[in-house]
Amino acid sequence: MNLWQAIKERRSCREFATTPVEDEKLEAVLEAARWAPSVLNKQPWRFTVIKNQELKQRLKDSCSKTIEFLHQASGWKWLGRYKVDFLAQAPVIIAVTADPQDAGADKFLPGRGESYAMSCCAAVQNMLLAAHALGLGSLWYTLYDKDEVKQILNVPPHMDLVSMVVIGYPASPPGSVPRKPLEELMTVIP
Ligand SMILES: Cc1cc2nc3c(=O)[nH]c(=O)nc-3n(C[C@H](O)[C@H](O)[C@H](O)COP(=O)(O)O)c2cc1C
Repeated sequence: MNLWQAIKERRSCREFATTPVEDEKLEAVLEAARWAPSVLNKQPWRFTVIKNQELKQRLKDSCSKTIEFLHQASGWKWLGRYKVDFLAQAPVIIAVTADPQDAGADKFLPGRGESYAMSCCAAVQNMLLAAHALGLGSLWYTLYDKDEVKQILNVPPHMDLVSMVVIGYPASPPGSVPRKPLEELMTVIP
């Protein structure tokens, strides 16, 4: 698949078929992550690949509680309708963790040190694009209670849970999502 096609056609998927993801495809998605840029080439990312149904169910239950909390806290109506059944339904969830000590020199600047997480985000984007190129659906997922999910997944205390990536074959084609026009986003300083 052409790069531009992958960038423009990838959409977040929130409804997955239970069809398993082939090991070669999963490996290709992780291989794409491995080649992402990272601060000082530290490659801070670690990937926990979750296929276990009981664990996925526990993640879903934990995240459902988090969504309910967010609904109450924000009053945002869409959170009342937002369901995270896809966490139990999708065949694979990849938790992306990293040691915040693996930031670059930015960690010595006051209030900074986020480059380890930025590096992980580059890896996540590579995963989403690779998944799409392989005919898989994916979702970048972040609405979780970090401490609770780290406990469920046995993530060591010093590691940050940067994101989760949900992967599987789409059950239905994801809808289209608009983008702001470039003129609205761009300032040129001549
Ligand atoms: C940093 C980040 C966090 C996100 N977290 C969530 C999430 O927790 N749950 C979710 O359903 N979508 C999440 N998304 C997906 C966005 O909602 C989605 O990318 C956006 O609506 C644009 O749609 P598209 O991905 O189909 O182009 C996240 C995306 C990013 C980049």
